[in-house]
Amino acid sequence: MNRNELERIARAMVAKGRGILAADESTGTIKKRFDKIGLESTEETRRAYREMLFTAPGCQEYISGVILYDETLRQSTKGGERFADLLTRLGIVPGIKVDAGTKPLPGFPGEVITEGLDGLAGRLAEYHRLGARFAKWRAVIDIADGIPSRTCIESNAELLARYAALCQAAEIVPIVEPEVLMDGAHSIERCEDVTSAVLTEVFDRLYAHRVHLEGMILKPNMVISGQKNANRASPPQVAEATVRTLKRHVPGAVPGIAFLSGGQSEAEATHHLDLMNRIGGLPWALSFSYGRALQQTSLTTWGGKGENVAAGQREFLKRAKLNGLAATGRYEPGLEQQAA
Ligand code: 13P
Repeated sequence: MNRNELERIARAMVAKGRGILAADESTGTIKKRFDKIGLESTEETRRAYREMLFTAPGCQEYISGVILYDETLRQSTKGGERFADLLTRLGIVPGIKVDAGTKPLPGFPGEVITEGLDGLAGRLAEYHRLGARFAKWRAVIDIADGIPSRTCIESNAELLARYAALCQAAEIVPIVEPEVLMDGAHSIERCEDVTSAVLTEVFDRLYAHRVHLEGMILKPNMVISGQKNANRASPPQVAEATVRTLKRHVPGAVPGIAFLSGGQSEAEATHHLDLMNRIGGLPWALSFSYGRALQQTSLTTWGGKGENVAAGQREFLKRAKLNGLAATGRYEPGLEQQAA
């Protein structure tokens, strides 16, 4: 393991004012997104959509890395440049989703476990040859009556740590993503309790598997009320609870924390990140690794039509820029009104 190289890549992924675009929707997930705009999901429409995002002029100012899906890592621009080469040329680190999604956890109704460790060492070696320098593995923890169970938290944390150790052995920076879902009706306090328990277990297992903390990125949920809760906590409460929880559980050796958006609106995800960076005095960089919160408006504006590529790119650049500002605590909600 080349620790210096891992550290260099991890720091680049959370460089000041920049963050990560999660464009690693699986074939099933991107179909759901395309269904909403009435676009058929084919290898070519998926390629065209990703090309629109990656070739948005100047996106490298705010985007430090892009998480790709296996198919996308093997695809190229219309002009024949491999996406991984294009991104690298722009100074954007290409990454790859390596988990195989979630499956029901037997014996634990309503809970899931992430698959994908089998053969992972071999796949990582290939991904490195194809240009990927970081990877992502998402564990999912749901909150409801009686869940999450200890078994679900422990099993998912163990897998995250084994994945992270395999990545580092292949000179690939692991993004460790334990996502506590915000789908339920739970309070922000419940989310804080569960997120605390999950992070404690994750770092315990990372330590046990000798993962080099300086060469990884954490991708957590924010500490936030469930979407079905009628009394949702305010943005300052979310920022405060999230920073408090992360300070308690994430060692300062970790270079960066890049949040998932998890179903928050675009403006909400940006506002929360900004408020956290305004609190300041943080031992790690606090940035974004958003999927939906960077792509939503861009995707609907594009709508699968060639003549809308420039307009879709403007919307993507607007979100990238606002999140770049939020990553340094310089965003204002009023900026949302400005034209893309
Ligand atoms: P969202 O920001 O849409 O939650 O996606 C981020 C991600 O990569 C989830 O794994």
